[in-house]
Amino acid sequence: MIENIKSKIDAKKAVIGVIGLGYVGLPLICEFVKNGFYVVGFDTDRKKIDKLNRSESYIGHIPPAKLCEMNKSGKFRATSSFAEAKETDILIICVPTPLTKNREPDMSYIVSSCNALAPYVHKGHLISLESTTYPGTCQEVLKPIFENGSGLTANKDFFIVFSPEREDPNNKDYNISSIPKIVGSDSSESLEAACLLYGHVVNKTIPVSSTRVAEAAKLIENIFRGVNIALVNELKMLFHKMGIDVWEAINAAATKPFGFMPFYPGPGLGGHCIPIDPFYLTWKAREYDFSTKFIELAGEINTKMPHYVADRVVMALNEHKKPIKGSKILLVGLAYKKDVDDMRESPSLKLMELLEGKGAIVYYHDPFILSIPVNRDYPQYTDRRSVSMEHADIYDCILIATAHSNIDYASLQRRAKLIVDTRNVISKENNVYSG
Ligand SMILES: NC(=O)c1ccc[n+]([C@@H]2O[C@H](COP(=O)([O-])OP(=O)(O)OC[C@H]3O[C@@H](n4cnc5c(N)ncnc54)[C@H](O)[C@@H]3O)[C@@H](O)[C@H]2O)c1
Repeated sequence: MIENIKSKIDAKKAVIGVIGLGYVGLPLICEFVKNGFYVVGFDTDRKKIDKLNRSESYIGHIPPAKLCEMNKSGKFRATSSFAEAKETDILIICVPTPLTKNREPDMSYIVSSCNALAPYVHKGHLISLESTTYPGTCQEVLKPIFENGSGLTANKDFFIVFSPEREDPNNKDYNISSIPKIVGSDSSESLEAACLLYGHVVNKTIPVSSTRVAEAAKLIENIFRGVNIALVNELKMLFHKMGIDVWEAINAAATKPFGFMPFYPGPGLGGHCIPIDPFYLTWKAREYDFSTKFIELAGEINTKMPHYVADRVVMALNEHKKPIKGSKILLVGLAYKKDVDDMRESPSLKLMELLEGKGAIVYYHDPFILSIPVNRDYPQYTDRRSVSMEHADIYDCILIATAHSNIDYASLQRRAKLIVDTRNVISKENNVYSG
């Protein structure tokens, strides 16, 4: 059975279904279509389906022309009808894995998408989960749902693999095809088939011996990042007290040709991954009566950073004989990192809330986010619009939260009364404070 799917993959005749047409699913579809596969995209969000079918992009780095080309090729179709999964040979699941209000894994998207697909799973189906999750998800969540829903047996009739997405949005040096792709399976035959599949769109696949190892590998990457960012954030607060420029010190340390990798401080953690994924392991660890102290401590420090930055703004205004109450503040950069249009978990939203809570009047400028979309955690900011930076001199303080590269910081500095810079993009002068 697996030989059949392998030969279909080899001949690019395998029909691929991608579930979840977001930041991960959509770029993946583009790669498979570019490489000659027929792909059906599934999503529960009808607006996204309609936009895709009209070749309208909702992801900054995917131009409408690319969607237009895909639609014209006749090799792509977007739908919200899960019954069409019956016509596919491969299913790749890229749905969200956030945390619940109690900061526990929210598996509802994985569970509901698998439940919707399960009745259409047939013999020979190859299913790959790409969503970041805790080790054991494929075996403990996917396998029973697909077995019960299809009446078939996993790794005999159909196959489950885990292959984490490792994309770094807007990284100019690496893209989907140049980032090695980890693939883990609990059966050696399906591991081969999945590597063959991904081998069509990536330069290198990294097979590992089980789905759990692959699930763990992805979490290690994100925990490593979260912990190291917390470390430099802590050092930033200490070095500020000591009168040491943390960026200069990190850059000096980074000249060591081995054993050191630079991480840089900021106003807190953002994005859909690093602030969230580590807590998937923390939750799973409890089952083993184990507490993940590094993860918890890093989370604590990173969560504290917007509070630290808000206090730095209060202090900077104070030095300029201005109370925070009633001060006009321009927050520059709403996205969680530079040059992207993604503001999920962005510390900038927390900063807005903290500063407004202290009585400031907060505006924002972000060339990538012209108005704030609906946001579960900060509904009060929905539809607030980015203001121009032309009149930078009308603000009592400018807070740089994200270092977008299309902003003229030198010009901003000339016009601003006071700047708090959390990203080290402005040379330190009298009216510039590190944040
Ligand atoms: N964004 C990244 O850079 C990145 C990088 C690596 C890993 N990941 C992981 O990949 C996964 C997806 O992340 P994303 O950033 O693409 O999320 P996203 O929110 O951009 O996209 C997810 C899509 O899934 C759709 N969806 C939700 N429930 C569904 C269901 N039941 N059936 C079908 N579609 C459904 C949503 O409408 C949305 O379009 C997450 O686990 C995330 O942690 C993301």
